[in-house]
Amino acid sequence: MAETETNQDHGALHEHRVFPPPAEFAANAAISGMDAYNKLCDEAAADYEGFWGRLAREHLDWHKPFTSTLDESSAPFYKWFADGQLNASYNCLDRNLQNGNADKTAIIFESDDGTVTRATYRELHERVCKFANGLKSRGIKKGDRVIIYMSMSIEGVAAMQACARIGATHSVVFGGFSAKSLQERIIDAGAVAVITADEQQRGGKSLPLKAIVDEALAMGGCDTIRDVIVYKRTGGNIAWTEGRDIWLHELVENQSAECEPEWVDAEHPLFILYTSGSTGTPKGVQHSTGGFLLWAALTMKWTFDIKPDDVFWCTADIGWVTGHSYIAYGPLAVGATEIVFEGIPTFPNAGRFWDTIAKHKVSIFYTAPTAIRSLIKASDVDEKVHPKNYDLSSLRLLGSVGEPINPEAWMWYYKNVGQERCPIVDTFWQTETGGHMITPLPGATPMVPGSCTLPLPGIMTAIVDEAGADVPNGQGGILVVKRPWPSMIRTIWNNPERFKTSYFPEELGGKYYLAGDGAIRNKDTGYFTITGRIDDVLNVSGHRMGTMEIESALVANPIVAEAAVVGKPDETTGESICAFVVLKQARPTGEEAKKLATELRNWVGKEIGPIAKPKEIRFGDNLPKTRSGKIMRRLLRVLAKGEAITQDVSTLENPAILDQLKESA
Ligand code: PRX
Repeated sequence: MAETETNQDHGALHEHRVFPPPAEFAANAAISGMDAYNKLCDEAAADYEGFWGRLAREHLDWHKPFTSTLDESSAPFYKWFADGQLNASYNCLDRNLQNGNADKTAIIFESDDGTVTRATYRELHERVCKFANGLKSRGIKKGDRVIIYMSMSIEGVAAMQACARIGATHSVVFGGFSAKSLQERIIDAGAVAVITADEQQRGGKSLPLKAIVDEALAMGGCDTIRDVIVYKRTGGNIAWTEGRDIWLHELVENQSAECEPEWVDAEHPLFILYTSGSTGTPKGVQHSTGGFLLWAALTMKWTFDIKPDDVFWCTADIGWVTGHSYIAYGPLAVGATEIVFEGIPTFPNAGRFWDTIAKHKVSIFYTAPTAIRSLIKASDVDEKVHPKNYDLSSLRLLGSVGEPINPEAWMWYYKNVGQERCPIVDTFWQTETGGHMITPLPGATPMVPGSCTLPLPGIMTAIVDEAGADVPNGQGGILVVKRPWPSMIRTIWNNPERFKTSYFPEELGGKYYLAGDGAIRNKDTGYFTITGRIDDVLNVSGHRMGTMEIESALVANPIVAEAAVVGKPDETTGESICAFVVLKQARPTGEEAKKLATELRNWVGKEIGPIAKPKEIRFGDNLPKTRSGKIMRRLLRVLAKGEAITQDVSTLENPAILDQLKESA
């Protein structure tokens, strides 16, 4: 197991301020007060299966009721509600038509340029049914995998729902990933179709999507793909392959507006979502239908305290798990009105979030610490984009996700956006967990800036040492989940062995889910604070990346002999990528080094995607290695931070190169 070095304190561990939930909020909350929270925890502790079974019956509509709640017979391949049948799209759409929400707005689409379109539940249902029938007309069926490579749009959500409706397993690939990343995912998933758009619109610019799909397919190995379905977003010029490519509007044109949902077993894979691990290529995290949907719906009610009149806005992209749980499924499963936002926080200016909240009277706002930190900076520079200039009175709850939020950013968010009226839910979770794990409940939990506080009822998180033994509060360790929960990852697509070794390592007894994060519990309150990844996974602007993936991309360049990548604390993005590179040629300096660094940065952008471009590149004649040839990453992290080396470097084979690696190109 990796070293348990922690690097993301940000003062969170020394935080003493406590903010009780506002009385009025607590009075009306779904889980009101700590007694209500504790009661649910006690229920789960007393009868774990009974607890989850009750919730699954109450919060989901089942076509065929389940009789088995949890099947542990082939652990860690746990099964939940296995003999039950349901459909995710039915639960998100049809049941809203039956319970009086048909004419309620499901989605408010706020486009990049500010144009607004809306879809009621009835309209969304119709669009999804036509889309689903269109997919069927192309021979796409239950169990097939479909890649979705689209930007934020009602069509993107409809595409996911349409796949779910016919039992096809979708795999959304973030629109910022490169052709190569897309190709790798298409091949691994064995997908039969790609749903994309001609172009995407971001920050006033049109960026290619279909052209990247064409490029990915031309790279070869994607023979399973029969159809490329194209949503016309901008009308930009694109190449066309007759017989393979089809416009979405033509596909759905004459389709029926009714589509009987395909009833699937609860364990049927709803989606695969690729995410980075510490080694190898990205892992296809496979989620179930029943367990995933239960938690997406339930956390909307518990963590977000969703009410019929709320306008919910999660600013994530459907390419990440947050966009799956809290855009494509959770909000619809509870009949909420939600914003789907195409743009970026800084266009046309850095007041866009606040302006959009005022425009649509958003009441629940869920975003990432990086966005908050960059908007703090922007409003320091230009007062006009400070939240105080906007009417944010509609807000009643704020959320944070994706990375640790430092107390300073928390306080700014609390004061300036929430106007000291709105609780903040700092939600800790992961692609693999399917939904929130550790988070305050807005009507119950006293909040402490920088702490995700306590696990949700039924989520058995704990902190253990490297042998799997519990550590006392106040002592840091490894974050684990001791019992399976319904929305957990089911396996890694195509790689069950990797699933077992990555998440249920023998060192911890093979029974605990290993989150990959370090954490510490407060001595007095038992509150959790996440101290950062304990493996070689980076978190840049809330985007998860493996150091190895970036290293592999760098060494794939013909001029590179060797590369090592580490994370460096960054005021805005949480972490930034610092790459140490040895070239096949002599070590470059000055302008030559700058030129090559730019070249390599662009290369990584092409190989993986712009989000993986190293912020810094440092060239050396060699990398610091032990006599056995192991790269000393710990040392590289110190160098990246610009700190003096206090460690013992006596085992280092080539101490002289440390000086070279102090400067970036
Ligand atoms: O390190 C943790 C961090 O993000 C990782 C999961 O990344 P990903 O699978 O991309 O999912 C992000 C969206 C859920 C975690 O292992 N992380 C996520 N939320 C928090 C967090 N770290 C601290 N506090 C959080 N609230």
